Amino acid sequence: MPLVTSKELMQNAERGGYAVGAFNAINMETAQAIIGAAEDEKSPLIMQITQTTMNYTEPEELVALVFALVEKSKVPIAVHLDHGRSFEICMRFLRFGFTSVMIDGSLHEDGKTPRSYEENIEITKKVVDAAHALGVSVEAELGRLGQIGAEIETGDPGKALTDPEQAKEFVDITGVDLLAVAIGTTHGLYRGTPTIVHDRLEAINKTVDVPLVMHGGTGVPDDAVVKAVQLGIRKINIDTQMRVAWYDATRKVIEETEKEFASLDELGQVRKYDIRKLLAPARQAVRDTVRERIRVFGSSGKA
Ligand code: G3H
Ligand code: ZN
Repeated sequence: MPLVTSKELMQNAERGGYAVGAFNAINMETAQAIIGAAEDEKSPLIMQITQTTMNYTEPEELVALVFALVEKSKVPIAVHLDHGRSFEICMRFLRFGFTSVMIDGSLHEDGKTPRSYEENIEITKKVVDAAHALGVSVEAELGRLGQIGAEIETGDPGKALTDPEQAKEFVDITGVDLLAVAIGTTHGLYRGTPTIVHDRLEAINKTVDVPLVMHGGTGVPDDAVVKAVQLGIRKINIDTQMRVAWYDATRKVIEETEKEFASLDELGQVRKYDIRKLLAPARQAVRDTVRERIRVFGSSGKA
């Protein structure tokens, strides 16, 4: 099935009143699991590679692998750069053939220091002009998602939430196709249950006429997700939940293997190591996790 842009997926999602899951791939097994889950659910998909994965591997190898898998897929997929922090990184992923990029203009390239609103506008507009010339969709971010420990965790999300009027001005000036909004979520595992500020989301959705994106999807209760989709969230990012599934599956295999090896040792036999015995269950655990999220987002059967 041909590659699509995230904008095309968003238009269908808007018509259908559902959200499309956006899942981060970091290797062959996670990419296979994510696409497999979308095919299981006959769901459109946004396959993401986040900039920080470049600290682990040169992107070219992973990008080639992802495109090889996407080419064979039976569902429509947009291939998206997640949390691009600079114009240069976004251009590099445009050259790879990505059909969607995020310029995360809320933070400087260190991923910690906030950019000013004006700086966010400047870099976002620069990326939009280049990407749109190539027919590629652009996601931007307004408001502060940050990591655990941000204002949201102090129970005072007000400071970090996206302002509806500023969001409208930002979208009008930059021309972005999707907007990631701060509505009470943050990346990583929450201490306790996050509070999604749905009335702020509703206000933003009434003011802004592009699809809205929820980051920090892991750990948001299903009913809060469903309500957020009803109020205009059309793309939901998930990363940590897949990592937890991977770790849990791997830990289980290692525990079982150690028991097996202990009995073999008593019999004086050689331990039979097989890395695939670790990778296959982890891949399946990620696939099950992604399927379950897709069902909650409402995009099952929408491919
Ligand atoms: O951009 C990626 C997502 O925002 C990841 O959020 O790790 O909390 O699921 P999460
Ligand atoms: Zn994110």
